[in-house]
Amino acid sequence: MKTFYITTPIYYPSGKLHIGNSYTTVLCDSINRYKKLRGYDTYYLTGMDEHGQKVETVAKERSLTPQAHVDIIADDTKKLWKMLDIKYDDFIRTTEDRHEVVVEQIFEQLLKQDDIYLGEYEGHYCIHDESFFTETQLVDGKNCPDCGRPTELIKEESYFLRLPKYQDWLLKYIEDNPGFITPESRKNEVVSFIKGGLRDLSVSRTSFEWGVKVKSNPKHVIYVWIDALSNYITALGYRSKDTKLFNKYWGGDEVLHVVGKDILRFHAIYWPIMLKALDIPVNFKLYAHGWYLMKDGKMSKSKGKVVYPDDLIPRYGLDAMRYFLLKEIPYSGDGVFTPEDFVARVNYDLANDFGNLLNRTINMVNKYFNSSIKKNSATTEFDQLLVDKVKETIEAYSTSMDAMKVSNAISSLWSLISRTNKYIDETTPWVLAKDETKKDELENVLYNLVESLRHIGVMLKPILLDASKGLFTQLNIPTNLQTWDSLEFGSLKEVTVTDKPNPLFPRLDKKIEEEFIGTLLSGHPCKNCKDEEKEPENLITIEDFDKVEMVVGEILECKVHPDADRLLVSQVNTKDKVRQIVSGVSKYYSPEDMIGKKVVIVKNLKPVKLRGVLSEGMILAGKGRKALEVLELNNLKPGDKIS
Ligand code: MSP
Repeated sequence: MKTFYITTPIYYPSGKLHIGNSYTTVLCDSINRYKKLRGYDTYYLTGMDEHGQKVETVAKERSLTPQAHVDIIADDTKKLWKMLDIKYDDFIRTTEDRHEVVVEQIFEQLLKQDDIYLGEYEGHYCIHDESFFTETQLVDGKNCPDCGRPTELIKEESYFLRLPKYQDWLLKYIEDNPGFITPESRKNEVVSFIKGGLRDLSVSRTSFEWGVKVKSNPKHVIYVWIDALSNYITALGYRSKDTKLFNKYWGGDEVLHVVGKDILRFHAIYWPIMLKALDIPVNFKLYAHGWYLMKDGKMSKSKGKVVYPDDLIPRYGLDAMRYFLLKEIPYSGDGVFTPEDFVARVNYDLANDFGNLLNRTINMVNKYFNSSIKKNSATTEFDQLLVDKVKETIEAYSTSMDAMKVSNAISSLWSLISRTNKYIDETTPWVLAKDETKKDELENVLYNLVESLRHIGVMLKPILLDASKGLFTQLNIPTNLQTWDSLEFGSLKEVTVTDKPNPLFPRLDKKIEEEFIGTLLSGHPCKNCKDEEKEPENLITIEDFDKVEMVVGEILECKVHPDADRLLVSQVNTKDKVRQIVSGVSKYYSPEDMIGKKVVIVKNLKPVKLRGVLSEGMILAGKGRKALEVLELNNLKPGDKIS
């Protein structure tokens, strides 16, 4: 069995992950599921990059130890992956012993070999990006070219990794291995950067504590990128007591690192050089994807321009989220998230094109054949076109998935879906159903629809998790016909579909949902880009609040309730009418106190009888431990609205 080892970058614990950084994990999950479907023995690694000055600073601001801070975020991250149904095999954290011990050894070995040496560094350091920049790289003479934040001028003793020593080797390696860095445009970026001349890389810091210490000189902390990149092999047990996984997967058939375009250079230059220096085979491939942007630029937590998967999934389902993420970033470009596009993808692609096709097919099998159909020998002039399209789609889909072009693979699948919908229009089953002599032809048409849907279901398995399961359940497809090897038109012999079809994707109300997602986008400004605060569970939306109709009411008369001393019964003018309201305020107000007050009335409360007296609303009051005060608005008129 061929092996396949796939990794995501390990995430910084800088707060909740948004759809942008969740994208890599969903993409890897989908590729990993595809490889499994194709019969590979796969291993999927993700995790957290938990060291560095930024973590130390943020933890301090939260009055937590760095370890407590990263523990909380690692837990939240795992919960998010669970919600996205990410099937990873290991979750590595750089604060784990199994990792730290090996990073120490890696550093010492490189030092011993003189690939690393001790020198002095002066440079402009960006804490946020954990990177040094030269004067000429800075924006406006002081700001980080990547994130725009101010940098600090730092001069310190530092260890350096000799990158130039490996420059020619790396260029030749890239040239000899055309598939090493994809897409091609990213490879070109890397090549021109290397040709510009590599310089020794500063690989230790003395300005903070939170990291792996250099064993032979513990006042130095190992640079976070040397620490982080090593995770890809420490997680497999490199240099540990048990190197089985390392030998099997790193030494296996395919190793793929998936990263965002912003961290391409670290993976395409430092990492292969580290491996080469350590005498570990550089047998990985690197795919650098684009970014999710908002309509007006980068996602930004500090500006509140950000979307979180856990806001969308409970409302729209996991598959809607996964579909959007995987579809909207093209192979070599960026994608844009807008509420309009999100709703359109659900309504057009999922509900209309795909969901309806399945639903219509099941309904027709139920209506015309009492749920059961068989393969027969009848034909229509349109069958071959559909069969050819299915074959063509299997080819196009697998070529795209093999090349990490998941968005293209999805487009091929949807092209088959629309071809299958067209087959219904061409063969007009409802017309065939009227003619008893066309019964076989009709059964053949429905069979072809089910068979096409079965193929669609298999290819959807890595992409839509619930919907592919739902399709197989509703069509009652046996598990041996849900596999890649069963993809041959005609393998299905007979089928009994469910008689209770259930639409997989209900259509969304465009206006309501676009508005809802819009409020999410404007509702997340975090304080100074720090960690987000957890929202209390009992929040209501503005729509919820708007349901309460409040107006000013003038109390015309007031009496003590005939059967309950603690209640007062007031006659209140709310302009539309005089309503009777019972309220429990007599301990604090006499009836005379109440008369003439202009108070806040909840007008649309369902009328109730309190101790036999009808109450048509509520008078609002604030209550402390010892006092109660009725809210008054003395400058307004009865009936004035309160919002
Ligand atoms: N810790 C480093 C990676 C070390 S790997 C040895 C890091 N972490 S990160 O949390 O900042 O970013 C993790 C990944 O999320 C990166 O691949 C980055 O490109 C990706 N994304 C962050 N924002 C993104 C979007 N808006 N869209 C798509 N991917 C994005 O870098």
